[in-house]
Amino acid sequence: MKGLVLSGGKGKRLRPITHTSAKQLIPVANKPILFYGIEMLAEAGIRDVGIVVGYTREEVMETVGDGSRWGINVTYIHQPEPLGLAHAVLVSEDFLKDEPFIMYLGDNILKQPLSELIEEFEEEKPDALILLARVPNPGDFGVAELDGKRIVRLVEKPKVPPSDYALVGVYLFSSRIFEAARNIKPSGRGELEITDAIQWLIDNGFYVRANVTSGWWKDTGKPDDLIEANRLILEDIPRVIKGEVVNSEVRGRVQIGEGSLIKDSVIKGPVVIGDNVKVINSFIGPFTSIYHDAVIEGTEIEDSVILKGVRIKDVPGRIEGSILGNETVLLRRDKKPRSLRLVLGDHSIVELQ
Ligand code: G1P
Repeated sequence: MKGLVLSGGKGKRLRPITHTSAKQLIPVANKPILFYGIEMLAEAGIRDVGIVVGYTREEVMETVGDGSRWGINVTYIHQPEPLGLAHAVLVSEDFLKDEPFIMYLGDNILKQPLSELIEEFEEEKPDALILLARVPNPGDFGVAELDGKRIVRLVEKPKVPPSDYALVGVYLFSSRIFEAARNIKPSGRGELEITDAIQWLIDNGFYVRANVTSGWWKDTGKPDDLIEANRLILEDIPRVIKGEVVNSEVRGRVQIGEGSLIKDSVIKGPVVIGDNVKVINSFIGPFTSIYHDAVIEGTEIEDSVILKGVRIKDVPGRIEGSILGNETVLLRRDKKPRSLRLVLGDHSIVELQ
């Protein structure tokens, strides 16, 4: 079985971070989101993985490489326009040929071994096996209607959801899916929807089976989801201290990378701090990730994702539930007048106390 990871898309809902970075490469617990999916495929024994890339392809190719670090072979497949998930399947036909494959949406993180799904697919031999999760907001996703293990209907982001079973972004297909994708028309949002292709399979009498995930799952497409995914991943990290800790309290499951310095501060895990980070006279609270080269002084932060090279100094109050993009600078101004002075990129969001 081959793997297909989708890593195109514009990531509009994660602007401004995605103005300069592919959404799949944003670090969650200091690791690009995309790596979680690739690792899960590698762990399930998949050796040939196609990655569908779009306008961020150079960045994705540079970050992921040839797959050798996971013991897999990566083939890049160019999708010139983000015309939908079923379109991504069609552009991958040469790579996938007649083999069944597992498709994984590159902005999803889930905790369920994919090997269980592959075994179920091989035993039950459906034309599609779709991973579902029960969610409180099914209208934000593709939604499935079930009859036992059989999926009888699928709708993409319905106004009135027929159930609370959302499509998680992990799909196993036989090569029948190509015929289905060729027989559907673009949806209202102008995309060839994979849900419509699967519905075509159902309508033409093919067996589409459901597996409802028992673990957690996060589509990291929106800021709050990204912060929650960060929280969920940090729940499980081990304590590893490599950097230097001076006159500070480092409590619980905390990771501190090489060349980092924690001075006169309190770090309360779970927290991950990358390499060459300086934390001086600060409090870093639970569920915070701080990427390489950041400098944080005189500030309290919790439940946040701080990216590369961010500089924060003497910020009053506590920074919470925030995402700061690469090289962001956040300072308290000493000079008068004490007005707010902001230089914010397009689509930035600032919420003041
Ligand atoms: C896509 C699929 C949707 C699925 C979701 C999971 O939506 O179209 O069926 O539930 O991924 O993340 P999108 O994120 O492209 O809006």
